[in-house]
Amino acid sequence: MSERSFVMLKPDAVLRRLMGKVLTRFEEKGLKIAAAKMMEIPQDLAKEHYREHKEKPFFNDLISYITSGPVLAMVIEGDACISIIRKMVGATNPKEADLGTIRGDYALDMGRNIIHASDSSESAKREISLFFDDSEVCEYSLPDERLIYE
Ligand SMILES: Nc1ncnc2c1ncn2[C@@H]1O[C@H](COP(=O)(O)OP(=O)(O)OP(=O)(O)O)[C@@H](O)[C@H]1O
Ligand SMILES: [Mg+2]
Repeated sequence: MSERSFVMLKPDAVLRRLMGKVLTRFEEKGLKIAAAKMMEIPQDLAKEHYREHKEKPFFNDLISYITSGPVLAMVIEGDACISIIRKMVGATNPKEADLGTIRGDYALDMGRNIIHASDSSESAKREISLFFDDSEVCEYSLPDERLIYE
């Protein structure tokens, strides 16, 4: 069933010019980019986005990291895409992430792991609505959908 996930390339991905490489992976997989925007995340939005980690010792560092420069915020769409994208992203700690995953291939440190992706359908809905208005999410068909889906 088609799902939407919230995916964000963090400031290190933008500054390291990795946006194109990472986007290519999602496009080549057959997923659809339904929305994308560059933005600098306000402190309040960063804290709301990562509110589940509010009590964790790394929370302040996480907020500093995510607000340290521009991010590319996206809505990505496709069948079962929430779990597929999490697999493509790899383990939270890039040192443990399998090679072939985005974090496994492009990152080394937990606090510089270059990408965020929603971890459940509830998180996806919450995060998409935090970052995007409905009108910013494009509804369109890809011309090769018959080749991607049975
Ligand atoms: N133990 C830790 N020490 C330092 N930073 C951490 C630690 N655990 C998580 N983080 C940071 O907080 C972010 C959010 O942690 P979470 O447990 O939600 O991992 P994730 O879902 O893989 O990552 P994200 O939510 O960014 O996609 C991580 O991406 C990482 O940058
Ligand atoms: Mg998370």
